[in-house]
Amino acid sequence: DYPFRPCSDYVYLTGDQSQEAALVLEPVAEGGHRAVAYLLPRSNRENGEFWNDYHGELWDGRRNSLTENEQLLGLPCADVRTLTGKLAEATGPVRLLRGHDATVDHALHTAVTVQADEEFRVFLSEMRLVKDDFEIADLRFACEATARGFEDVVRILGTDQPTLERAIEGTFFLRARIEGNDVGYTSVCAAGPHATTLHWIRNDGQARPGDLLLLDAGVETNNLYTADITRTLPVSGRFTPIQRKVYNAVLAAQDAGIAAVKPGAAFRDFHHAAQRTLAEHLVSWGLFGDRDADEVYHLGLHRRFTLAGTGHMIGLDVHDCALARTDLYVDGTLEPGMVLTVEPGLYFQSDDLTVPEEYRGIGIRIEDDILVTDNGNENLSTTLPRTPDQVETWMATLR
Ligand code: GLY
Ligand code: MN
Ligand code: MN
Repeated sequence: DYPFRPCSDYVYLTGDQSQEAALVLEPVAEGGHRAVAYLLPRSNRENGEFWNDYHGELWDGRRNSLTENEQLLGLPCADVRTLTGKLAEATGPVRLLRGHDATVDHALHTAVTVQADEEFRVFLSEMRLVKDDFEIADLRFACEATARGFEDVVRILGTDQPTLERAIEGTFFLRARIEGNDVGYTSVCAAGPHATTLHWIRNDGQARPGDLLLLDAGVETNNLYTADITRTLPVSGRFTPIQRKVYNAVLAAQDAGIAAVKPGAAFRDFHHAAQRTLAEHLVSWGLFGDRDADEVYHLGLHRRFTLAGTGHMIGLDVHDCALARTDLYVDGTLEPGMVLTVEPGLYFQSDDLTVPEEYRGIGIRIEDDILVTDNGNENLSTTLPRTPDQVETWMATLR
């Protein structure tokens, strides 16, 4: 068994997290739709369902009754076991969010065109691009709880002995479970050269004093909104000169990126601002010989060391709104209420012989969660320090 995580679109529309559930929107004559939540009722204790059924309440625990759910959700509720029968009667046109339940998918196959289903899926993703006050408050809390998780990690980092990446992962997870529902994605606890592997989730290494620790982690709240924050910390509490030099370049890129987040800006502006700054630093360090920053940037040579895009929307999913059409998202315009990460990084692989030895094995990312406001932006993860001096002071204080 895996832990159950409901479909984000269902949660967005209902606020419900029940395990066997569907939302049906039926068109009504006067326009609009009537929403009905189909849910599993209490187990029947007379016919054996309570203990014979795999999901009987004897085994899984008490559920809300349909009446209780009607009050909680503010929606009429029906027994989910009647859903496929009802769907089989549908004459269409019907749109279905496929891929979540095979029984439901099959119940409808003649009445629905795949093309219309895809349109529906995209629409649901686009609905979530601009967050309302409830969602922003929840993301704010996710960032604050995540900051407390980072503080917990700093407190266990050994200054005279290694700390297991697993201990770091477990420490953050404890905070995520205490203050929220879970981690929003598997934590990246990448020490030393592991930090150059963007998807380092094995977390089976050790953070040694002298190493950097790249910690990319986010608390998912009980409403299922997640933060997505990265800090790159000197395990010893002090950056070495080369670590500080690379860190400051990433910080300058992040500052340039964050400054470009404002309503009316193109979504891609912050990416270009951050990447251009990184390219300029790499050129100034002589990593591209005689080529100037314009040429390096135009050819994309810097991408050997920057590897990834500079950010994405967050929300119920860590990569939120991923199905939105490009003209509304990556080729679109920022609007107040959007919340996105700005997360430039530099990653020098340990075996990259094209860079001077002192850079090899250094990986640095700084990632913050930025709300687009009416006038500019607000950094929701600002509790966590970003400059090298602030990071060192913060770590010393926590220890
Ligand atoms: N932690 C996933 C990301 O930064 O996009
Ligand atoms: Mn991240
Ligand atoms: Mn991210």
